[in-house]
Amino acid sequence: MVYLTRIERFNAAHKLWVADWSVEKNQEVFGKCANKNWHGHNYKLHVTVKGKPDPQTGFVMDAKELSKVVKVEIIDKVDHMNLNLDVDFMPKGMQPTTENMLILFWKQLASKIEGAELHKLTLFETETIYAEYFGE
Ligand code: NI
Repeated sequence: MVYLTRIERFNAAHKLWVADWSVEKNQEVFGKCANKNWHGHNYKLHVTVKGKPDPQTGFVMDAKELSKVVKVEIIDKVDHMNLNLDVDFMPKGMQPTTENMLILFWKQLASKIEGAELHKLTLFETETIYAEYFGE
């Protein structure tokens, strides 16, 4: 089995906030991500698929095709958007954390990949914080 990873980038705004909590508690738990007038992140998404290289092409999957499907299913829907308000697959009230976005991205993408199997999604919110998801 060979693992192939494509890296995509997007920029988006969000706010992490629990309405039942005080301003102070929100700021304590979420830090700058609780800024009331939103803020942005430069996200980086690693999409890893697995499979056996095709005997003719040597590809697990055409990386251009992988990029296309990630763009259609995810990037076009989140890039330069407000993750709390603008994303049609974001359930109302769900915190747009790196962890939750990964679960939603997996649902968007897993069944749309042809010729290989989605293995892992890795989402960087900053250079120093990222989360990974393997579909369960
Ligand atoms: Ni944030």
